[in-house]
Amino acid sequence: MRHDMCVVLVFICLSILVNSLPTNKDSNFASDQLLQHKISSLFNFFCARNPDQHAAKVSTFDPLNYLSLYTNPDTVSKFVTALQQNLTSPRWGPYLSDKERIDTIPMFDILYFIDTSTPQGFDLFYNTTAYFSLRANVRQFIMAMELISSTKFFGRLTLPPFSTSVPQFFSPKSVLWGINDVVKPHLGEGEHVEEDGGDKLTGAVGKDPTYWKFDAGYREFHFAWNMDLPPDLVQDKYQIRFDRKGELFLYSHHYMEVRYWAELRSQNLPDIETLTLNKTFKVTQGYSPFFLMADFSVFPVRGPGDSLTTQDNFQNLTIWEDIILQSLADGYAVGKSRERYPYHQPNETDASDIAGTDAFGALFQSTTASVNIDLYGNLHESLHLNLAHLRDPRFPTKLPKDVMGVMDHAESSVTDSAFYQIHYYVDNLYKKHKYYSPQIRNEQNMAYPGITVRQVGLNSSQHVTQLKTEKFPVLTTYFEYYSYNVTNAVIDCQKLESGKEYVISRKRLNYNKFEYNFDIFSSHGGNEDAIVRVFMGPYIAADGKPYPIDDFYWNMIEMDKFPVVIEPGENRITRASSDSSILKKDVIAPGELKRNCGWPSNLLLPKGNPEGLHMKLFVIVTPAKERHGVKLTVQNAAEFPAFSLCGHPYSYLPDDKPMGFPFDKRMHLDNPFGSVGKSNFMFYDVTIKHLISL
Ligand SMILES: *[C@@H]1O[C@H](CO)[C@@H](O)[C@H](O)[C@H]1NC(C)=O
Ligand SMILES: *[C@@H]1O[C@H](CO)[C@@H](O)[C@H](O)[C@H]1NC(C)=O
Ligand SMILES: *[C@@H]1O[C@H](CO)[C@@H](O)[C@H](O)[C@H]1NC(C)=O
Ligand SMILES: *[C@@H]1O[C@H](CO)[C@@H](O)[C@H](O)[C@H]1NC(C)=O
Ligand SMILES: *[C@@H]1O[C@H](CO)[C@@H](O)[C@H](O)[C@H]1NC(C)=O
Ligand SMILES: *[C@@H]1O[C@H](CO)[C@@H](O)[C@H](O)[C@H]1NC(C)=O
Ligand SMILES: *[C@@H]1O[C@H](CO)[C@@H](O)[C@H](O)[C@H]1NC(C)=O
Repeated sequence: MRHDMCVVLVFICLSILVNSLPTNKDSNFASDQLLQHKISSLFNFFCARNPDQHAAKVSTFDPLNYLSLYTNPDTVSKFVTALQQNLTSPRWGPYLSDKERIDTIPMFDILYFIDTSTPQGFDLFYNTTAYFSLRANVRQFIMAMELISSTKFFGRLTLPPFSTSVPQFFSPKSVLWGINDVVKPHLGEGEHVEEDGGDKLTGAVGKDPTYWKFDAGYREFHFAWNMDLPPDLVQDKYQIRFDRKGELFLYSHHYMEVRYWAELRSQNLPDIETLTLNKTFKVTQGYSPFFLMADFSVFPVRGPGDSLTTQDNFQNLTIWEDIILQSLADGYAVGKSRERYPYHQPNETDASDIAGTDAFGALFQSTTASVNIDLYGNLHESLHLNLAHLRDPRFPTKLPKDVMGVMDHAESSVTDSAFYQIHYYVDNLYKKHKYYSPQIRNEQNMAYPGITVRQVGLNSSQHVTQLKTEKFPVLTTYFEYYSYNVTNAVIDCQKLESGKEYVISRKRLNYNKFEYNFDIFSSHGGNEDAIVRVFMGPYIAADGKPYPIDDFYWNMIEMDKFPVVIEPGENRITRASSDSSILKKDVIAPGELKRNCGWPSNLLLPKGNPEGLHMKLFVIVTPAKERHGVKLTVQNAAEFPAFSLCGHPYSYLPDDKPMGFPFDKRMHLDNPFGSVGKSNFMFYDVTIKHLISL
């Protein structure tokens, strides 16, 4: 097929460029930029590459000599002593499930509780961070720092992208070996190498939307999400309140899933099969990652056609599934003292739905917020572990048994097609729960009396003449090259002494920016605080026919959600696609909050295809309402970056609606696509064309 060519090309490394980096010592940093600069300069792990790192290397600073300055000297003493005696995870040790957090949590605790408001406090924080950056397990250090960045310095500290800190996880093996002048190593048993495309050995069909699954920004989104919202953080201890965390788990994974499906439609690929705990179920496709572990070792290979039943925890999975299905049928979860947590109310409201979904999500993801972990176990995490342990029996390996496959790595699991099978399973349970709600989305339930969406329009900065003949307005995507820094994967520091940088050029999906125009009419006498929600979803299913309507609704992708003030009479609201509140912004205006978590900007639109992928855009205007005293307004919107997908560590979420509203539950509209200009919502046809520019 024609489209496969661009897919296969995505991960071909075109060239290795070598640049010299001019150092800029004279910049006049504002204080949080200084903080950010100083901390992010510590993220080169093989070779010190700047004056701060050289200073840290020769510094005699030892936390044990400053115990009285820490608020938790016992934690510091215990952890640093263990670190010095090499009792913690080795610096480049592989990632071992369960053991990871044993060291990450104390490191986080030590840094979190340093009072950085004084110069001495900041010094101590910096010294301690520098100390850990040189000695701790690299992945654990990054995880602790991501969490510090998303909590302690929420919005004020951005770390270097994980892909440049540890390029090993993101770069093709050939590049990693190439920059270290390693001839492709003689492969031991079990160290089979797969190229980026299809592969007979692992049963990979090579037609997956690899450009999307392997996108560094997307992988970082999933990593940052998991680092920002660790399942086992004791929230009270840090005075963090991950509002609606259980619901967020279900929704953000649903989001990745429906996005994946839109990419399958773009590639004209069939639907995927959900994972089931049926004993006959097999993971059809094997997986052998194209990238390496932090210590340059290879990931274990999963063979094609593996069965989940081969793993010890299979029985637990089936027990937990049974008990969760039973609780869904009962309509409540049972707490530790037999108390009931209802999932729904007979007179369901958005608030009762949120509470029920949150309880369900928390026991399913199995977080510290689970109302009864002994009863409901940890189904989601155990599914990942089960797959992470599957090894290809044709390749007996010397890798220790507790070295995990990608399915237990938050930065890599999304590259494996089995991830989408696991989350299909999760999503089906989420849907089952939501569709049990007695509340139904219909004209009455979604109404905003006095407000009418009269017209929707799109304009794109791309003037492509051929597109004028299209039936529907056209949005466009393309592939582009971007430079990608792999210097941190150079082991021989002499190679970097002259200031050389190693940059490779890779292909990624991007789209031509556009604007939405909404004409909204208000018959209210005064100004209205309202929320505009924009969704988009594929209209045609894999079989070439329109999706069954329930599937169409469930597959809608949230594109944006933003507050507006609606004045009496006519309102023309213009919104740039790049301002979408789901995105991690590429460029942040001064004073705006930065965040590591957020949907990658370049993937805002599904790829579409050269023929044009028929999508339906949906817009709905609803009143902005307070929830726990917090309401989203034009004034405070910037304080909640990417909250739809990433939540907020300290504040209640400024939305009284369940996540994904109004497509979050069963919907019945009398004339879904015909009621144009008659109510506070409307559908609008759009085509996404992929312009093959590379
Ligand atoms: C810990 O490991 C480092 C590096 O391998 C070594 O230099 C040091 O002597 C070790 N310390 C102890 C207490 O074994
Ligand atoms: C930080 O480390 C430097 C040496 O690198 C030392 O002079 C300074 O006193 C330390 N400050 C604190 C608060 O730890
Ligand atoms: C398990 O899968 C087999 C084969 O696909 C099917 O015949 C059977 O009905 C399934 N069992 C259950 C309980 O879903
Ligand atoms: C099954 O679950 C129980 C209870 O959570 C746990 O103690 C046990 O280790 C689990 N077994 C396996 C093989 O994971
Ligand atoms: C409706 O639901 C609310 C809370 O969800 C509850 O307090 C109230 O008693 C319910 N009313 C009826 C009539 O069921
Ligand atoms: C879209 O149209 C508006 C006027 O309706 C204009 O101000 C804006 O610059 C246009 N945007 C793009 C991206 O062309
Ligand atoms: C490459 O990354 C390092 C940090 O990892 C940074 O110091 C350097 O400026 C980057 N170089 C380029 C050309 O982006």
